[in-house]
Amino acid sequence: MSKQKRILVTGAGGFIGHHLVARLKKDGHWVRGADIKYPEYENSAADEMEILDLRKAEDCLLATRGGIDEVYNLAADMGGIGYITANHADISRNNILINAHMLEASRQNGVKRFLFSSSACVYNQSKQKDPEVKPLTEEDAFPADPEPGYGWEKLFAEELCRYYYKDYGFETRIVRFHNVYGPLGTYDGGKEKAPAAISRKVALARDNDEIEVWGDGEQTRSFMYVDDCVEGLTRIMASDCRDALNLGTDELVTINGLVDMVAGIARKRITKRHNLSGPQGVRGRNSDNTRLRKELGWEPSIMLQQGLAVTYAWINSRVRQSIRKEETVGAD
Ligand SMILES: NC(=O)c1ccc[n+]([C@@H]2O[C@H](COP(=O)([O-])OP(=O)(O)OC[C@H]3O[C@@H](n4cnc5c(N)ncnc54)[C@H](O)[C@@H]3O)[C@@H](O)[C@H]2O)c1
Repeated sequence: MSKQKRILVTGAGGFIGHHLVARLKKDGHWVRGADIKYPEYENSAADEMEILDLRKAEDCLLATRGGIDEVYNLAADMGGIGYITANHADISRNNILINAHMLEASRQNGVKRFLFSSSACVYNQSKQKDPEVKPLTEEDAFPADPEPGYGWEKLFAEELCRYYYKDYGFETRIVRFHNVYGPLGTYDGGKEKAPAAISRKVALARDNDEIEVWGDGEQTRSFMYVDDCVEGLTRIMASDCRDALNLGTDELVTINGLVDMVAGIARKRITKRHNLSGPQGVRGRNSDNTRLRKELGWEPSIMLQQGLAVTYAWINSRVRQSIRKEETVGAD
């Protein structure tokens, strides 16, 4: 076991933060979680789980009090492509406040290292126009033309981390996630991402049913299972790399391919109904892991088929549970 540290995870009520807390506790660390909500599906493993609004400077000072060694700053207002396309002002304002206040509070309270969770949405959109896209290297974020709202505020917060190192010597790490999925992730309500949304639709469908797919389904992405994500986070925090690093897989798949994979796992025949006016984001996006491999001697390795099988099983059991509940209520 590495030396025990005092660690703050913001966004600990959310998908990745919740998994990260569990991993850090398993590694023997003392962990404080902070979020505006508790985790939705199971209790947090954190030593302290505090409900705070990290858009407020005073709440960020509270979250970082008491000799915290490391901060994983995962708190953000975010969701899938439908949500981030429809809420530019709220997302940008909320996340700029969270990131600026969290950086400053961490510096003031003597935190030793700060990790910022950025996104592949920072990449220049003109480099993502083809489904057969060349994997994106970290340099492809410039010249800047990121996704409106969410992409711009992530790119600016990355810059802010660099300024804090340059002006104050404050140690920052920057991770650009590429589509993370797994059990305990949001799967309904409007903030879910493609693997969870498709798993839910397939779980609800009967054999030979049709499900809706946004766009023509030929847009491509790569997806990373949450265990790889958490492993990568702890490795990047421990590394000497202050430059932004991609954290994703380079297993490229079309959204149509993703639907077929989930249908295969569910053993259902599913037809796709393409909704061409649905939001679909950039045409193609993949992760180039050259820098990650060089810095860490490691990269994510869990194959999509393997991770999706576990994710589908979890979402399917949640969907079955809620159907049983509705039937019980209906029978009353
Ligand atoms: N999941 C992905 O595919 C992905 C991809 C790229 C980047 N990211 C980034 O990774 C981080 C974690 O993502 P996630 O998938 O776990 O998302 P998530 O939505 O499950 O978790 C984010 C958490 O932040 C919390 N939060 C929002 N506003 C807050 C506030 N004002 N104060 C305190 N907490 C607040 C939310 O309640 C939520 O629990 C985010 O910064 C996100 O932008 C995720």
